[in-house]
Amino acid sequence: VGRLSKVAIIGAGNVGSSIAFSLMMSNAVSDIALIDINKTKAKGEALDLAHGLQFVPSVNSIQAGDDFSLIKNAVIVVMCAGIGQQKGQTRSDLLNYNVSIFKEIIPEIIKYNNECIILVVTNPLDVMTYVTHKLSGFSSCRVFGTGTVLDSARLRYLLGKHFDISPKDVGAHVLGEHGDSQFVWWSQASIAGIPLSQLQLFSQETMNTIYNKTKDAASQIISLKGVTNFAIAMVVTKIVRAILLDQSRVFTVSNIVDGVYGVSDVSLSLPMVVRRSGTCQKLSISLNDREQKFFLESALKIKKEINQALALL
Ligand SMILES: NC(=O)c1ccc[n+]([C@@H]2O[C@H](COP(=O)([O-])OP(=O)(O)OC[C@H]3O[C@@H](n4cnc5c(N)ncnc54)[C@H](O)[C@@H]3O)[C@@H](O)[C@H]2O)c1
Repeated sequence: VGRLSKVAIIGAGNVGSSIAFSLMMSNAVSDIALIDINKTKAKGEALDLAHGLQFVPSVNSIQAGDDFSLIKNAVIVVMCAGIGQQKGQTRSDLLNYNVSIFKEIIPEIIKYNNECIILVVTNPLDVMTYVTHKLSGFSSCRVFGTGTVLDSARLRYLLGKHFDISPKDVGAHVLGEHGDSQFVWWSQASIAGIPLSQLQLFSQETMNTIYNKTKDAASQIISLKGVTNFAIAMVVTKIVRAILLDQSRVFTVSNIVDGVYGVSDVSLSLPMVVRRSGTCQKLSISLNDREQKFFLESALKIKKEINQALALL
């Protein structure tokens, strides 16, 4: 109560503008700043949104421009500048370009705001989260990415449809990379505490299909409509609310891991507690042998891309 709740969004493209709209409806944010190198686009989106200010209870102002001083006083800076996955392109193809943009942007952020939490959305997500951590010098509590929160939502949607249960009541998580090496934490997947394998409609073959559909969801949407923007905006809004309202929610955000099954100094997704201070509390998890193998493969893949990125810094 009475706390600042300004959120700055860097990159007012498909994703950034959808996040701004979703945050406006969230009733948790008091001020929004939209920053884009394309100043006219940022200003256009802000004006369009500002015409709706009278319809929402919590937002007082929407600022926009190409000037990074707009991020002053923001509690959270959402990073969604950069190019997205094109048809036939992998997330790794984006790496070189997006790292070069972050090298310009992150120093601008810390010039104006040394206290914020940086929430990374730009792909390749885990690598960009790691790069942001390195370039900012912020503690890892204050730099994390949306990670597999979106993938987990996609998984729950598909499982919910299959078992005819609301996705809200499906307890299932995607861990590892926000990308092709992601894996499902099947050993802990349940509905109302009942392991999926004990449910009548369970079949291993269907679970494999659901895993593949979850993993390929972004490509599927991109081939249907060119971009993904709405679900990611809702994911960011959930995380932003958890931070601003100090909710201690558990999300599979991407964060630097330190000594999990022998993996350190890699950013990837595991269940973490998200509150006003960021993600300082990691939950220790137990993976079965198969999951440990997937976890290590995922960490190795990200580590390789991190090394590729570090060579560019
Ligand atoms: N994490 C996820 O789950 C997830 C989901 C969807 C999209 N994404 C990623 O989000 C990113 C953005 O996607 P999009 O569809 O909005 O792309 P977009 O091209 O519509 O928007 C990107 C914006 O970034 C701006 N930009 C470029 N360089 C900049 C700079 N130096 N400073 C400020 N702004 C700059 C561009 O002008 C553009 O408006 C992509 O990397 C995409 O892959 C991630």
